[in-house]
Amino acid sequence: MVLIDQKQKITTREWVEGGERLVFPQGFFWGTATSAYQVEGNNKNSDWYLWERDGNIEDGQLMGTGPDHYRLFKEDLSLAAKLNNNCFRLSLEWSRIEPQDGQFDQKEIEHYRQVLQTAKKLGLQTFVTLHHFTNPLWFYYRGGWLNSEAPSLFHSYIVKVARELGSLVDFWLTINEPIIYAWQSYGVGIWPPGESSLWQTRKVVKHLAEAHDLAYRAIHQLLANQPTVRVGMAQNASSFQLHRTYSLSDQIYIRLMNYYFNHWFYDLTKGTHDFLGLNYYFHTRLQKGHWRQPQFINAASLGREVSDMGWEVYPHGLFEVLQEMSAYHLPIYVTENGIATNDEQQRAMYLIRHVQEIYYALQIGVPVKGFLYWSLLDNWEWDKGYWPHFGLVGYQEKTKKRIIKPAAKIYAQIAQQNALTKKIFQQARGINN
Ligand code: FCB
Repeated sequence: MVLIDQKQKITTREWVEGGERLVFPQGFFWGTATSAYQVEGNNKNSDWYLWERDGNIEDGQLMGTGPDHYRLFKEDLSLAAKLNNNCFRLSLEWSRIEPQDGQFDQKEIEHYRQVLQTAKKLGLQTFVTLHHFTNPLWFYYRGGWLNSEAPSLFHSYIVKVARELGSLVDFWLTINEPIIYAWQSYGVGIWPPGESSLWQTRKVVKHLAEAHDLAYRAIHQLLANQPTVRVGMAQNASSFQLHRTYSLSDQIYIRLMNYYFNHWFYDLTKGTHDFLGLNYYFHTRLQKGHWRQPQFINAASLGREVSDMGWEVYPHGLFEVLQEMSAYHLPIYVTENGIATNDEQQRAMYLIRHVQEIYYALQIGVPVKGFLYWSLLDNWEWDKGYWPHFGLVGYQEKTKKRIIKPAAKIYAQIAQQNALTKKIFQQARGINN
């Protein structure tokens, strides 16, 4: 592909600070992303609830009410629209919709109908995730994703929601980050059910791939009268780099990592993606490959910029993964990208730098169609609890009053103008000063 030849020509170094107006294609999607469990609060029917109670969260936190988006969704969606978002990503919480095996809760389905109707009324295109790391307790007790029946159990839930809510969904994301989910939950065991086995991880990935295929086919079949329905998933796409090591074994190792994290799942689910959803957070520097204990280089120790999570801020990695994934010749949506920080200038510059890389990817022909910042709201960050602040909007713990942060206003301007401009850049630089 021509893309490779052009790779070296366009890099972040070409950004002349504030000197350009980078205009995006008409109809580009600008949005924000959330997931049900992380923002809704008060969920006692998911495997994460047990996990939290068993003391597996940093600082021993419990999710409690959190941002209380379950109750305040109208206000939150209105905020997204006010910030000039034209799309919104949310997930349906399986443990609410199907609280018992085979028993659906119509009240909860109505809740999500209202959420989606509200989004539509506000002019937001909807990206709906069906599985975002959480499982109903009954499913967990039946062996979760290790159970060979898992894909068909998931399928019944899909059929139900596609029938009930299908007309309100523009983009379906079957599974969020299947490889990350399998790895964290069954590989390193820091998420429920806390297993630590490569063999189990592989089995879970296979079941998730089967589940994706079933969901893809079911949605297309059930919504055949909606020709615009699009089904894909959200994949965590990482950029990898060898750190001061040039041995052949390390070269092979990094290629394997790239394959397993970025391509494996697509290989397992060939032909069942209408688009690619990419979540970009990670630039991984590796030294000395060992299959069980890779040596990840701590970016902070190299004096590089990191987020509060310790994740390296490496915007050009987004360009790299977009270029890498363009090999699939499918429209690409950046379904997540964001930073945990309390420094609003850092958040605003992170946003600008990443959006800028998308612009450069577009210049070399990568078919990027949209960008969704993670996240609209400060929320529950899995095993970390509430301390990482990814939101464009914060909230007061007691009153739940929403607080629009400075970076949100920067993003709102980019979305409104469908462009990055000198003025926006300067305003971002001026935050905190
Ligand atoms: C992604 C997850 C999302 C959130 C961000 C920070 O991997 O999909 O739920 O936790 O990381």
